[in-house]
Amino acid sequence: MSDKPKILVTQKVPDAAYPILESFGIVEANEEEGVIWSYDELLHRAPGHDYLFCLLTDTIDARFLETCAAANPRLKMIANMAVGFNNIDVATATRLGIAVSNTPGVLTDTTADLAFGLLLATARRIPESERFLRAGRFTGWGPLLFCGAEVYGATLGIIGAGRIGQAMARRASGFNMRVLYHNRSRLSAEEEQRYNLTFVSFEELLKESDFISLHCPYTQETHHLIGEREFALMKPEAILINTARGAIIDEKALVRALQTGQIASAGLDVFENEPAIEPELLQMEHVVLAPHIGSASLKTRSLMATTAANNLLAFQKGEVPPNILNP
Ligand code: DGY
Repeated sequence: MSDKPKILVTQKVPDAAYPILESFGIVEANEEEGVIWSYDELLHRAPGHDYLFCLLTDTIDARFLETCAAANPRLKMIANMAVGFNNIDVATATRLGIAVSNTPGVLTDTTADLAFGLLLATARRIPESERFLRAGRFTGWGPLLFCGAEVYGATLGIIGAGRIGQAMARRASGFNMRVLYHNRSRLSAEEEQRYNLTFVSFEELLKESDFISLHCPYTQETHHLIGEREFALMKPEAILINTARGAIIDEKALVRALQTGQIASAGLDVFENEPAIEPELLQMEHVVLAPHIGSASLKTRSLMATTAANNLLAFQKGEVPPNILNP
């Protein structure tokens, strides 16, 4: 019997990952594109593997980890092909001696591109007007036809000024925007100057911004960070952009805020109960919705896949994986 480690890959991932994984292990992979194994299916398959290469759609909770840690061979490491890792109970993994890694850095600009794209699409009503045209309803240029919000020179509020938040600020500077930010800890004066960022309180950001873009991680502290109270503070013209995690927004409160005109619109790439979407959002023509494609360029997804695979390879070589998450 081979003494090579066994690796389970939970979804079909970009090709670039497989040669790295196959260089040191025996790979068992979900080959069906678009098929996501259920929690029970994954829990049935994972025990007996040394390494798990997983995605943000896999829930790796305490029960799952305990089952895999008790198996033979026991689970040694989980590489999440995502920068967000709220799908994994890292504290329990750490207690059980299981290493966990993510893929920061490689998707920063791609995600910021999508966030800014959603901002433009929502402000300028691009998807709504495209549907109108395709439906054969364009009868000629009109002075009031699809007038939207001005982006150039407007105020953008960034919540979470990490890598992606800062990349969003860089894009905003090309549009001459005033950029406010709120973060757990204030950036250095040099960083603020580099990105032309102004630190403000959470409440001030909500009150002042024409566009609010979320770039914070999803944790217990950021669960429903944007809810009824926060919508009440926003301008009626405000447009909310979310490419982070759905449950940072109380989605039911968002629907009410949109229905009552408390805010103008939203551009959303992530949802509270993904892949389920609040039916009311689907009915709102002016809201722009995308199926969690923030990092979805071929180049970036390949980089995410090789980053995850290289984290496992480093562990196998006895090195500290570059993107280890355990404290
Ligand atoms: C992530 O990496 O966390 C994104 O949500 C998917 O690319």
